[in-house]
Amino acid sequence: MLKKKVTVNGIPRTLIVDPKATLADVLREQLGLLGVKVGCGTGHCGACSVIVDGKLVLSCSTKMSKVADEAKITTVEGIGQPGNLHPIQLALVAAGAAQCGFCMPGFVVSTKVLLDQNPSPTREEVRAWFTRHHNVCRCNGYKPVVDAVMEAAKVLRGEMAKEELEFQMPADGRIWGSKYPRPSAIAKVTGTFDYGADAGLKLPPNTLALALVQAKVSHANILGIDTSAAEKMPGVYKVVTHKDVKGKNRITGLITFAPNKGDGWDRPILCDTKVYQYGDAIAIVCADTEANARAAAEKVRVDLEVLPAYMSAPAAMAEDAIEIHPGTPNVYFDLPIVKGQDTKPLMESAAYVVEDEFYLQRQPHLNVEPDVGFAYIDEEGRVTIHSKSIAIYLHHAMIVAGLGLEPEKLRLVQNGAGGTFGYKFSPTMEALLGVACIATGRPVFLKYDYYQHITYTGKRSPFFIKLKYGADKKGKLIAMESDWIVDHGPYSEFGDLLTLRGAQYIGAGYNIPNIRGMGHTVCTNHAWGSAFRAYGSPQAFLASECLMDELAEKMGMDPLELRYLNVYRKGDTTPTGQEPEVYSFAEMIEKLRPLYKAAKEQAKKNSTSEVKRGVGVSIGIYGCGIDGVDSSEISIELTKEGV
Ligand code: FES
Repeated sequence: MLKKKVTVNGIPRTLIVDPKATLADVLREQLGLLGVKVGCGTGHCGACSVIVDGKLVLSCSTKMSKVADEAKITTVEGIGQPGNLHPIQLALVAAGAAQCGFCMPGFVVSTKVLLDQNPSPTREEVRAWFTRHHNVCRCNGYKPVVDAVMEAAKVLRGEMAKEELEFQMPADGRIWGSKYPRPSAIAKVTGTFDYGADAGLKLPPNTLALALVQAKVSHANILGIDTSAAEKMPGVYKVVTHKDVKGKNRITGLITFAPNKGDGWDRPILCDTKVYQYGDAIAIVCADTEANARAAAEKVRVDLEVLPAYMSAPAAMAEDAIEIHPGTPNVYFDLPIVKGQDTKPLMESAAYVVEDEFYLQRQPHLNVEPDVGFAYIDEEGRVTIHSKSIAIYLHHAMIVAGLGLEPEKLRLVQNGAGGTFGYKFSPTMEALLGVACIATGRPVFLKYDYYQHITYTGKRSPFFIKLKYGADKKGKLIAMESDWIVDHGPYSEFGDLLTLRGAQYIGAGYNIPNIRGMGHTVCTNHAWGSAFRAYGSPQAFLASECLMDELAEKMGMDPLELRYLNVYRKGDTTPTGQEPEVYSFAEMIEKLRPLYKAAKEQAKKNSTSEVKRGVGVSIGIYGCGIDGVDSSEISIELTKEGV
C-alpha cells in the first residue's frame, strides 16, 4: 500500500492506496467522486479525464504509483456544481450537447484545460484538441460540443455575459420550438447523474460482486464444469452454474413470424450442454470484491469438446455444416417476397439489367458506457433487476420463465443509462443478475469491462445480398430480384423480424411493380444479432442504392435524376405493396437538385490528378416505432389556469 498526499478539488487529502489501483478507481471508490466516469477503461474514450497539475490525464489508465505526491487533482466536481455552473457546463447545456451524457464530465474537464491554454481557439483547434485527447461522444455528433466551447470561450474572455447562456422561459410559457434544456442536462454536465456503475457503489455492504466465466471458443459441447478450485479462492461466496437455475435456463427469442423452424428457446442463461458463441456465460462467481470474483473466475475449469465454428452465414449454410442448435436447421426462417408479375421474362426483355452482390459487415454499437447492472430482493420479495434495459416489460417476458419465477415476483428497473443505440433492446446481463441474486439471496452487482462489453453483447447483423434490377430504356425500374441472407449469430431473438426488414427496405423508395425475392435467417457462431439504429435499413439500402448507381452508370444517366424518375409518386406502392402515407421524395429531390449541382461543380474544382472528389446521393427510409401501423400517443393536461 502507498500513502499519498494529494489535493483534490482544492481539498488536501491523505490516502492509503494500492499502487496498482487506477486514479479513476481511487477517485470514484475511495473519494466518492462519481463524476469521473469509466467507459473503455483503456484510455481511449476520455470519459475519465481529470486534471493533474494542470495537465489533462486519462485517470482510468493512470496507476496510483504514477501520481506524484502533492499532486493537485481537479475533477468535474471541482469545476462547477449544480447551482454554480462553470460557463463551460452552462454552454454545453445550452447547446444541447448532453444527450446520454456519459461523456460530458470528460468534455467539461478537457475543455477547461483547452481554454486555460488557448482562450481563443478556432473550431478546427477545438476539434483537433478533442481528437488528440481522446474525448469521444457517440451521441451528439460533436457539433454541439464545439458550439459550446466557442460560446464558453466568449464568456471567459469577457465578450459575453454568462447569463446569456441561461435558458429564458418565453413570456407565454410555451417551450415547443424553444431551446428548453434537457431536464437531466445539469446533472450530466456536473457528473452528478448516476449511471449503473455509480448506483452500484451505493448498494449495501453485503452486496456480492459478480464475475463471469465465459467461453473462449465459439462452438463446443460442454463435457463438465469444475468449480471446486474457484470455490476455495479468497472472498468467494458461491459459484453459480446452470444447475442453480430454477427455471428453463433459456431466454426466449420471442418468435415474431411463422413459419420459424426454431421455437425461440435457444439462448441459455448459463450454458449447460453447449457453447454457442465466444463470450457465452458458463458460470458466475459471486465474491466480496470484483477483483476476488475475477481471480476466482479464472480457476473454473470447463471441459469442452470443441466443434467447428461457423463464423459467417455461408459457412453455416454449407452442406456439411452441423446444426448449431440440434434439431433446428441453421437456416431457420425463410421469407419470400412476391409482387406483380414473374420477373424472369421481364429481366430477359429489359433494356437495362444490372446485378451485383453486397455484404454489410457486423457492427458493434460502441456506446461509451459498458454494460452494467445489479439485482436484489425488494421489500415485497420480488427479484428486482436494475440494468440498461430499454425494454423492461419485453425483457421481463423474455427472461421470467428462464429464471423460474412467477411474473409478479420479477421486477425490472431501468438505470440512468449511457446511450445504447439499440443493443439494450436485447437482454444482456439481466437474467445473469437474476440467477445470481436468487442463488445467493444477496444483492449482486455485475459490471463488464469493455472487452466483455464488445464480446458479449449483440451486434448489427451482417447481410449478404444478391440484387438485380431491370429497367426500361428511360431508366424506369420494371423488375427486381433479391436474395438476402441474415447472419444473426446463434440466438434467434428478432432474427425473423430483421429478415422482414430486407423485404421492406431493399428497393424501397422506388416504385418497382414486379419483385421476386427470398430472405433467409441463418444461425452462426458469431456474436448474436441485436437491434441497432435503423434496424435492417442500412444493410438493405447499401445494396439497393449502390445498384441504383450502377444502373445510372450503365445508362450514362445522372444518379440523382435516375432516382427522381423512380421515386414514389401518388398511386405507387412500396416493395411490400403498401401505398406510402406521404410522397415526399420527388419534392425533396427538386429542392436538393440545385445544391447537388453546385456540390458537383465544387467537387470538380477541388479535384486534382491525385485526388478525385465526387458527390454521392442515396435515399433512405425507416419506419418509426416498432412493426405495425405507425401510431403515437400524447397526454395533455389542462392546468387550473386553463393553459
Ligand atoms: Fe456523449 Fe452520449 S452524450 S456519449
